[in-house]
Parts: sequence; structure tokens; C-alpha cells
Amino acid sequence: GTTLAHSHEDFLHCLSLRSAKSDSISRVIYTQNNSSYSSILDASIQNYRFATPATPKPSVIVTPRQTSHIQATIYCSKKYGLQIRIRSGGHDVEGLSYVSEVPFVILDLLNFRAVEVDTKNKVAWVESGATIGELYYRIAEKSKTLAFPAGVCHTVGVGGHFSGGGYGMLMRKYGLAADHVIDAHLIDVNGRIIDRKSMGEDLFWAIRGGGGNTFGIVLAWKVKLVSIPAVVTVFTVNRDLEQNATKIVHRWQYIAHKLPDDIFTDVTITKVNSSQEGKKTIQAAFKALFLGGVDKLIPLIQDRFPELGLVKENCIEMSWVESILYFGGVSTKSSDVLLDRDALPKQFFKLKSDYLKEPIPESGFEGIWRTFSEKEAEFSFMMMVAFGGKMDAIPETELPYPHRAGNLYQASYLVGWSKEENAESQKYISWIRRLYSYMATYVSKSPREAYYNYRDLDIGTNNNGYTSYAQASIWGRKDFKNNFNRLVHVKTVVDPENFFKNEQSIPPISPPL
Ligand code: FDA
Repeated sequence: GTTLAHSHEDFLHCLSLRSAKSDSISRVIYTQNNSSYSSILDASIQNYRFATPATPKPSVIVTPRQTSHIQATIYCSKKYGLQIRIRSGGHDVEGLSYVSEVPFVILDLLNFRAVEVDTKNKVAWVESGATIGELYYRIAEKSKTLAFPAGVCHTVGVGGHFSGGGYGMLMRKYGLAADHVIDAHLIDVNGRIIDRKSMGEDLFWAIRGGGGNTFGIVLAWKVKLVSIPAVVTVFTVNRDLEQNATKIVHRWQYIAHKLPDDIFTDVTITKVNSSQEGKKTIQAAFKALFLGGVDKLIPLIQDRFPELGLVKENCIEMSWVESILYFGGVSTKSSDVLLDRDALPKQFFKLKSDYLKEPIPESGFEGIWRTFSEKEAEFSFMMMVAFGGKMDAIPETELPYPHRAGNLYQASYLVGWSKEENAESQKYISWIRRLYSYMATYVSKSPREAYYNYRDLDIGTNNNGYTSYAQASIWGRKDFKNNFNRLVHVKTVVDPENFFKNEQSIPPISPPL
């Protein structure tokens, strides 16, 4: 309508007034009339569910090159009632970094991606718009024995990933990405640039896992690097139903979380073609990263997990950075691919997560296999990620991420498809919801815990306007357990008007009139 067009013009005018001539803010503003608007918008979208003609689009995209551009965007969005969505790597599973139902602006940090690695002090500063692959690459370029414990897919953005926890193959040895953040630069709702010292320990605690788009815009993070041996060992062992997959997966649940912390394992369940013509079977892929050589790994697994039948031929020795390519599913030997933000295939998908405190009985797995046999499960997987090790040693209240001691493993479920047809998509989404409801018997309860970074709006959402503490606590307790209360407290202090918000951001307590 006209008021919308009006506020949009006023917003652009405001941006130009707020920035000095030397800032050249006009060069980093894209409106729908700009020929690059669509390519900038689509560039980092990972989930095609939110790239359809029906998806709400931003009135303006700002790709700041300096902090004054961000400050101007905050000021003018507030003044003209536009919502801000902050985007770093664009991997938000429900598209919250680039979609909103109300008029909005995207602040895309793609130009804030410097990485500075200091091997002498074993630290790095990394800007939010960098990918974790860029961070890995810059570390490996300088050292063979330093690493960083973050996610597996290298295209994931630092900004969202660190804001929600961030786990990967080094988790059992070192914990989460957020556990290694020691300082940060943040722009708050008033446009102030603050660091750990000036923001204080409460806010510094909240930004390390309490969610993005909530407390301000994190520009950069200072992280501690971790030590790894120059040679690590990886393996993948596939077992299908005819090869005793059910029994072996069942056993894995008792063993994986108790292994020494320099071995990380996960299991991926998929439906595959059976060796019998035209038939399908279930396959469990057991993967591992061991921080050491193959000669130590083989006896360890043969002793602790003989059911797997691991042999030397399953194992490959390599460097840590090569293991990132191996587990990320990149079929190249050159680590240069870590700098490529488009290296991995994209699709339409829905993801959900769970935490397991008790092993699932064999009969329970049989029900899972039955669900996977349904035809909607064509492109789907269930992934089981072993916990224990360092995750058991970090108290639940240390950071907002609460899923620590007592978890045997995290389970996640994904269903994907390659073209958008409404009825078809609904079938896939119904399928994954069916699997999730089947799992209720076996997973954590009261609350049924979920991983914030595997965003799932099925578990609860805020209103777009005023959201009550009670409403937000429905999803908030699942993601943060009792840390939710401290997050609400911090939010109330730093952003009482709830300017930074989305469908799963922490609300302040501010009773409506
Ligand atoms: P994106 O830019 O979409 O941001 C995500 C959220 O954070 C949004 O709400 C956004 O507004 C906010 N945000 C982003 N930058 C911000 C900033 N600078 N300041 C404040 N708020 C900010 N997770 C994991 O732990 N281990 C893994 O191995 C993987 N692997 C993986 C693979 C794939 C293909 C996907 C799609 C996702 C994952 N994830 C994951 C989940 C991932 O950690 C999660 O989606 C992150 O939030 C993504 O961060 P991005 O910056 O890419 O997302």
C-alpha cells in the first residue's frame, strides 16, 4: 500500500542522511529495482523452501562494508518501523535470516568476513560473515596441529553458528564452537559498538548460544584454537539390515558416549538399494574421526566395539583439514574448496532434532525402519551423534546451550526434495512429523529437548508482534531448558523494546498495557 511505499522511501532517505558522503552507503543498498537484488538475496539461501515466488521478500538489502552502515540501518529501521533480519551464512533452517511476514530489511554481513589467525597465541578473530570453512582454511594454512571445534558442512556461517552453539567432529574432545569464544564485538540496539568488557558477562554469556537476531549484531568473535595431532584417522563402515544393522546400531548406543574423547562417532541411517534387484533396505553408516594414527584406533575399536567388525581397510589417515572435506562430503582433495560458499548442493528440506538419554530398544529401531520404508522417505536420513567426553564435563548453565551431561547422543532427522510442488512438499513434511511423533516414546521428555541451531518452528513460535514469556517458553525451554530464564533477563536489560526479533527469539518481559 501507499504507507508501505512511503516508509520505504523515507527509510532510504534516512539512510542517505545518516551516512557521511565518504561512507558511500548507496553502493551497499539493494532495492527491488536494483538488477542485483535477486542474486544478492538468493546467494546464500540454503533451503529452497524459502526461495519461492510466494516467499515474502525484503524491501531493502544492505550489505554493509563498515560499522557506520550497520548503525545507520538500525537507526532508520527503528525510525520507520521496519524489522531487521541479520544474515551471515544463510543456513537458518527455517529461513529466519531472510524472511519475515512484516515489512523488513536484510542486513547481510557477507562483506564482514575477515579471519586473522594468531598461531603463537593460539587464537583467532573471525568476522561473522565468514564461513566456518574459511576459518578452517586460514587455520590449516598456518598450522598442521591447530584446529577449531565447529560444524561439519563448511558453508555454514560463523554468525548464526556461534550464536546457537555449533558442534562438529571435535565435540567429544573439546565441546562446542561457543565454548571457545573468548571475546566478541557487538553492535547493540542503540548502535553502540561493545566488546566483552563493555557488554558485561551476562550479555557475553547470552550471545554464546542464546540465539542470533536477539541481542544485537555480532560483528566478530575472538576464539581459542585447539590442539590436534598432525595425523588423524577417519573411517566409514556401512551395514545394512542383512548385515545386522539393527543389532550394531543398538549396541552403538551403549558404547559411543563412553569411548575415549579423542574418538568421535556418528551413525547415519538412510534407505538404499539392496543387493537384491529392485529392493530397498536400510543402511547404517558408522563414521568416526580419531585424533591419532590407525594403529591405535584398530585395537581400540576391536576391543570396545567388536560388533562393528572394523578392519584396517576401512580407515584412512589424513590431516584434520582433509577430514573436514571427507566428512563434509566434498569429493575433492584440494582444501581450496573450503573458500567456496556454493560448494555444497542445495535443496528443499525440513529438519528436526532430539536428545537421547536412554538407548532405544531393538524393537524401537524396527519401527524407525518401517517409517523409512515409506515412499516419502526417498531423500531422508536420521543422524545419531555421540555425546559424552567434554560435553559431560561442562555444566548445563555454563552457556545457554543446555544439552550436556546425561545425553547419550543427539538425533536429527532430515527430509529433502528437489522440486517445489505444494502437495508433494506437504507429504514430505507430514512424513518427518510422523517419524518425530513416533520417536516421542524414546527421546528426552519434559521438556522434549531440541537443538536451537536446527531451527524447527513446529516446536513453538513467537507472534510477530507482542510475545508473552509463557508463549516463548514453549519452544524456549526445549532449546535452552532453565537457561531460558536468564536469557529473558538479559534480553529485558539490553533490548527492552524487543527491536531485534524473529519467530524464535528471546522476548523481554514487558507486560502489555
Ligand atoms: P544465518 O545467516 O541464516 O543465521 C542464522 C540465525 O542467526 C538467524 O536468526 C540470523 O538472523 C542470526 N544471525 C546470523 N548472523 C548473525 C550475527 N552476526 N549477529 C546476530 N545474529 C545473527 N549446526 C551445527 O552445529 N553443526 C553442523 O555440522 C551443522 N551443519 C549444517 C549443515 C547445513 C547444510 C545446514 C543448513 C545447517 C547446519 N547446521 C549445523 C546448523 C547451523 O549451525 C545453523 O543453521 C546456523 O544458525 C547457521 O548460521 P548462518 O550464519 O549460516 O545462518
